[in-house]
Amino acid sequence: MQATRPAVSRPTEADIDALLRQMTLDEKIGQMTQAEKNSIPPEDVATYFLGSVLSGGGGNPDPNTPAAWAAMVRAYQDAALKTRLRIPLIYGVDAVHGHNNVYGAVIFPHNIGLGATRDRDLVQRIANATSRELMATHVHFNFAPAVTVPQDIRWGRTYEGYSEDTDLVTALGTAYVQGTQDDDPRVLASVKHYIADGGTSWGTSKTYEWLTGNWQAPDGKYNIDQGDAEMDEATLRELFLPPYRACIEAGAQNIMVSFSSWLGLKMHAHSYLINDVLKGELGFQGFVISDWMAINQIDKDYPTSVITAVNAGLDMIMVPYDYKLFISTLKKAVEAGAVSLARIDDAVRRILRVKAWVGLFEQPFGRDDLLTSVGSAEHRQLAREAVRKSAVLLKNEGVLPLAKTLPLIVAGRGADDIGMQCGGWTISWLGAHGATTIGTSILDGLRQSVPDPALITYDQQGKFAAGVKAPVGIVVVGESPYAEGMGDSNDLHLAAEDKAVIEQTRQHCDKLIVLLISGRPLIINDELAQADAFVALWLPGTEGGGVADVLLGAAPFTGKLSYTWPRRMDQLPLKTLKQDPDGPLFPFGFGL
Ligand code: BGC
Ligand code: BGC
Repeated sequence: MQATRPAVSRPTEADIDALLRQMTLDEKIGQMTQAEKNSIPPEDVATYFLGSVLSGGGGNPDPNTPAAWAAMVRAYQDAALKTRLRIPLIYGVDAVHGHNNVYGAVIFPHNIGLGATRDRDLVQRIANATSRELMATHVHFNFAPAVTVPQDIRWGRTYEGYSEDTDLVTALGTAYVQGTQDDDPRVLASVKHYIADGGTSWGTSKTYEWLTGNWQAPDGKYNIDQGDAEMDEATLRELFLPPYRACIEAGAQNIMVSFSSWLGLKMHAHSYLINDVLKGELGFQGFVISDWMAINQIDKDYPTSVITAVNAGLDMIMVPYDYKLFISTLKKAVEAGAVSLARIDDAVRRILRVKAWVGLFEQPFGRDDLLTSVGSAEHRQLAREAVRKSAVLLKNEGVLPLAKTLPLIVAGRGADDIGMQCGGWTISWLGAHGATTIGTSILDGLRQSVPDPALITYDQQGKFAAGVKAPVGIVVVGESPYAEGMGDSNDLHLAAEDKAVIEQTRQHCDKLIVLLISGRPLIINDELAQADAFVALWLPGTEGGGVADVLLGAAPFTGKLSYTWPRRMDQLPLKTLKQDPDGPLFPFGFGL
């Protein structure tokens, strides 16, 4: 049941000052604390005055339905509203391509695909649709957009970046912020990860032996994620600062700090870049949040980590597990004078100001009437439009568009796999193969778009009967889902299985179309030579019908590469590729 509350109006600056004067140190520190829902029962939100709770990647209720999400978040808000001062909680999730933890939500293309659309208006509409699905579940805080500018596609987070080009990231990142925060009450966008998360060098990720417990420590796979950006300040500013400046101008009120370092110093300890540049020079008035357990990486000694992070300008800490330890540690630090009360007041004032701006004091809940918008036909149409616009045609020798009445053979592990076409950050953190959520696979999209589905013969492995010879074969191959450093890779060639299915299918068709599902450009020289047409689909999400739209000519191909496409691994990173005498396989902006 919803708690009954007296009507509240939006607090003014004076109201916030008055509220701050009433708050005890425990209440203030609570506001600065964000715990993950699997670690905290709702009643502890009231006991410890928590300012925020999050669902990490895959932090889903059971059953994973929109209604169960709404009930789960409501329970935390109800607890917050029972506290003495009734300060509302703000619940956060990573809705980085739709409300992607929720079973049945619409999954939009990952940012790399949106970069290929060059379409600000589309990105703004996607952000707004995502906010509506969030509001349906009472979530007011979205850890998006990533305005990362990836400079090395070996990075497992490349697909979270719209582009390797700063201006394109700025254009689309600001559109996302506007679309997210358009409505009233609002969803708060978190612009991340400050700064130069996409500028780290291969081999600089560090494993800290003191990180134990629940932390998935960077294991052997982490090579560039959370690494060190080795560049001078002029380069750092030129490549990575403009999206932050522009997003702040566009109304951004929250910024998440990067796990990475700049010249050996962890960003979470970087007072100069947070206090001086972000809050000083850029005039950022909102609150700064830390990344997942990231402060623990500052120092082996936890109190030192806490003190350093808060003094460096972090306002809210994504703890996310041991919030009791964080709270007691920060309290002791304040009592010992290692963190000033003025710093605490500044952090809390920023958080309360943003909560007021979001509209939480008057309307701490979302909108039940929006529950039907989760996974709605309207949102699916929008995602389908994005799929059409993000596909990049790399080669076409007299094959596309296809005639609707042509017999087709279809193969490849990506042809009928919703999980694979969605990629990481889908239902779970890493994503997974298979029917992980509701959607239309590429194969189903084709079947639904031709007059006679019997014209399409499908075999995943391309093992068609001897003698089968179709005019056109389509093979869908690419990357298995991954997220963050788990996707760092120094070998971006196609898997043997994918190469084999292309060989197999080639024998059964006159013309071959290869469709690539991937979070980044891969090394495709051989496959490109074997194909008559080649399309980069990126990670298109749940609406596979959009692929049929461009293949069958219902819509033209308009996507353009937002990353430079290399010929060989030894051309990486981008800086090296730009100087390589052989040049790239496809230049930035290419698309037929
Ligand atoms: C990621 C962030 C994300 C956070 C919460 C971190 O590991 O780096 O992008 O917002 O987890 O899930
Ligand atoms: C969580 C993610 C988080 C990641 C950090 C995962 O267990 O689900 O939300 O980003 O850990 O490494």
